[in-house]
Parts: sequence; structure tokens; C-alpha cells
Amino acid sequence: MCSAALACGISHGAPANSKLNVASVGVGGKGWSDLNAVASSPYVNVVALCDIDEGPNNLGRAAEKFPQAKRYVDWRKMMEQSGIDAVIVSTPDHMHAPISLAAMSLGKHVYCQKPLAHSVAEARAMTEAAAKMGVVTQMGNQIQSHTYYRTAVRLLQEGAIGKIREVYSWQSGNTSWNLWDDRVPGSNPVPSGVHWDLWLGVAPERPYVSKCYHPYNWRNWQDFGTGKLGDFACHILDPVFTALELTAPTSLVAENQVLNKEVWSKTNIVKYKFPGTQYTTDPTIKVTWYSGEGHRPTREQLTLPEGVKIPKAGSVFIGEKGHLILPHVGAPMLSPREAFEEYPVTKVEGRDHYTGWADACRGEADTTSAFSYSGPLTETVLLGIVASRLPTQSLEWDSAKMNITNAPEANQFLRKDYRSGWTVPEV
Ligand SMILES: NC(=O)c1ccc[n+]([C@@H]2O[C@H](COP(=O)([O-])OP(=O)(O)OC[C@H]3O[C@@H](n4cnc5c(N)ncnc54)[C@H](O)[C@@H]3O)[C@@H](O)[C@H]2O)c1
Repeated sequence: MCSAALACGISHGAPANSKLNVASVGVGGKGWSDLNAVASSPYVNVVALCDIDEGPNNLGRAAEKFPQAKRYVDWRKMMEQSGIDAVIVSTPDHMHAPISLAAMSLGKHVYCQKPLAHSVAEARAMTEAAAKMGVVTQMGNQIQSHTYYRTAVRLLQEGAIGKIREVYSWQSGNTSWNLWDDRVPGSNPVPSGVHWDLWLGVAPERPYVSKCYHPYNWRNWQDFGTGKLGDFACHILDPVFTALELTAPTSLVAENQVLNKEVWSKTNIVKYKFPGTQYTTDPTIKVTWYSGEGHRPTREQLTLPEGVKIPKAGSVFIGEKGHLILPHVGAPMLSPREAFEEYPVTKVEGRDHYTGWADACRGEADTTSAFSYSGPLTETVLLGIVASRLPTQSLEWDSAKMNITNAPEANQFLRKDYRSGWTVPEV
């Protein structure tokens, strides 16, 4: 139930034909498809649009499609509009938590892009705020709702390959945004209609440089994005988390180049150790992440025979009776093929990740990537980012105390400072 019932226009148990009043923050890029996907529900009214870029690919386009919605360039002003039930947050990563936390504190339901946050402390605050306010939440790892991932989870949980000994996950494709190795000198005039100070938001001030940050290329900058690990692991580790019912890792170690102060590493390995579950062979389970162009585990590590195609991105689950290979995004495959030829694979139908959230906000059904689940998943991914700041150093993680117990100097990287004039009271 919405514990902030007064602030929250729609609560669980609302009449089936009631409409959800939705606001959307960041309506270019992925936000455009998020907005359209949610608005495809006949039970959604788009009542507010916010974007720091008033141009034709951003606020302009959204305003044309949803002319009845009020327009804003500053999300803090948008939050003052009455009657907003739910908010979509599709901005760059550094603004996910500040905007989502503000929305939740007002009792609004939230759909937030992945990763949920830019620091471990923010991810924890997101989980706690959703629980405290009783709002309906969903992270934008939409592939979770795809029939491929849902079918893979079923196969693993029904024991198709027995209990799981070890998992490898990776993203070895190239990225178009990995363009700079260090701070770009100089500056360019800010284009008309772009509100650079609002784009920076909680991040430290720096001059605008064309094509360097906004749009899209913010991903590899430490102040704004979370590198390839943060960009992909919330998708690719998601079926690992769901299928094995993983909780917080107990230790992790990263292998990558030593970082400078500006960009994340182009390649990563993060070796996580988690407590075992009913789906694992042992009391602990190793999950190893690889990212970077062409960077993935070897066939020998995966213990896969010649002839089994290793996808560019995805996971391999090594079980007692065989392997499950799950491409990102592709149908799960069981290996060795001969052993599983007769295996009765039950396809699990997909769900609509977006209208499913809107329906859940209206009191119908539930969401599968609520922050109670996606908060801890995001924390795990962002702990990998913390480890990447101290490569080769094994970190022991006490999740309950939010403490790296064997390397006190690493704890400073669990949270970050906010620019003067910006506060995020929940963190
Ligand atoms: N789930 C997926 O498959 C998927 C795919 C792509 C991107 N994403 C996620 O979507 C988010 C956005 O990525 P993108 O590639 O669309 O980035 P982008 O830079 O192309 O677009 C971001 C949009 O937000 C706007 N914006 C930026 N700061 C804002 C602020 N403070 N207030 C209001 N609007 C603001 C920008 O003007 C732009 O319209 C990221 O979190 C990214 O990880 C998810």
C-alpha cells in the first residue's frame, strides 16, 4: 500500500478503469522509448515532461506527441505539479537517484533506468525509500521480462542442468561511446535550448564540450556514468540473480588498468563470491564478470566443447549435468546438445515490462524488477565499480553494515559528494 496515500493519487486497489498520471524525466534517447512504451497503456495519462534539452529530439518531440502534458526543464519544478502519480526517470546515471528519491519521498511510483544509481550508497537509499514509501517501482532492465530470460530462469530453477557450480557473464562487444581517455580541454558554446547546469545536476561543474557528454557519450566519465560494467551488468547479471536467488556478494576482486580521475576502465574482470543457495552445488558460488571489446572468458574456462558457439555477450551457467548458455539477448541453449535433445523445454511467455509497471501502480499485478530486487542487484554491480578503483585487491563486503571490512580505504568509494546547492537528503 502507498504509505504516502495523501500524496499518491493512485493507490493499490484503485478501480480497474482509473488512469495513472505519469511524468517523464529525460525524454530523448532511451527515455523516448520508455515514455512511449508506458504511454501505450490505455490507462496512462502523460501529464508532465521534463528535459534539460528543449531541442527537436528531446523535449520538442515529446511535447509534440503529448501536447496536453506540462513541460519543464528542471525536474525540481516538475515535482511541484499536483496530481502526478508516477515518474519515469531516463536521464544519465548520475541523476537517477536524486530524481527518483525526490519522487518517492512525495509518494510517487517510479520507473528508473538501469543502473538504479551512481553509487552503492544511493542504490541502498533507493531500496530503502521504495520500502518505506510503499511505492511501486521497476528498474529499466526490460530484457528480464523477455521470454528468453524468463525461460532460462525456469530451466535453471527446474534443475535442467542440475545445481550450479559456477557462472561466467560478459559483454565483449564494442561500444561507440568509449571515446576519451582523459579530460578534454577547452569548451564550446552551449547550444541554444540546452540547460548545461541542469544537465550537470549533482555532479561537479565542468565546461560544456560538444559531443563529449550530452547526449549519450556521458557513459564512460566517472562523474556521470558507470562504464561498460554499469551499462550492461544490470541486464546480463539479472537472470543470474533471479535464477539463483543471489543476495549480496561476500567478497569481490577486480582486474583492470589503474584508473585516472576521469574515465572508467575500458576492460574489466570482476570476480564475485556469493553465499550459495538452494540452486548451487556449494555453500558459496563464484560469478565472474568480463567486459571490454573482445574481452570474455576462454572456452577452457567455460568448459565448453568445440562447436558450441560462445555469444558476444551473455552468461554461461556451469551445472552438475551440463551447461546453459544464455546469449544477451537470445534463446537459452543447453549443452551438450545430444544430452538435451529430448529435454522438454517449457517456454515462459514474456511480460510487458513497461505497461506491467503502470498496471502495478494501478493496483493490478506486480513488478518483477522492483527496487527490493533491483536495488541489491545494482549494489552488486556498483561494488564492482568500487573494486575497479583498487584493482587486484580482494574486498570483503559486509552488506548489513555497508562496510568493506578488510580495506577501510575502499569505503570512501561507496558514496560521493554532491555539488554545492544540490542535496540528496536520503543518501
Ligand atoms: N534499458 C536499456 O536497454 C537502455 C538502453 C539505453 C540506455 N539506457 C539507460 O537510459 C538512460 C539514458 O541513456 P540515453 O542513452 O538515453 O542517454 P542520452 O544522453 O541519449 O539521453 C538522456 C536524455 O535525458 C535528458 N536529460 C539529461 N539530464 C537530464 C536532467 N537532469 N533532467 C531532465 N532530462 C535530462 C537528455 O537531454 C536526454 O534527452 C541511462 O540510464 C542508460 O543507462 C537503458
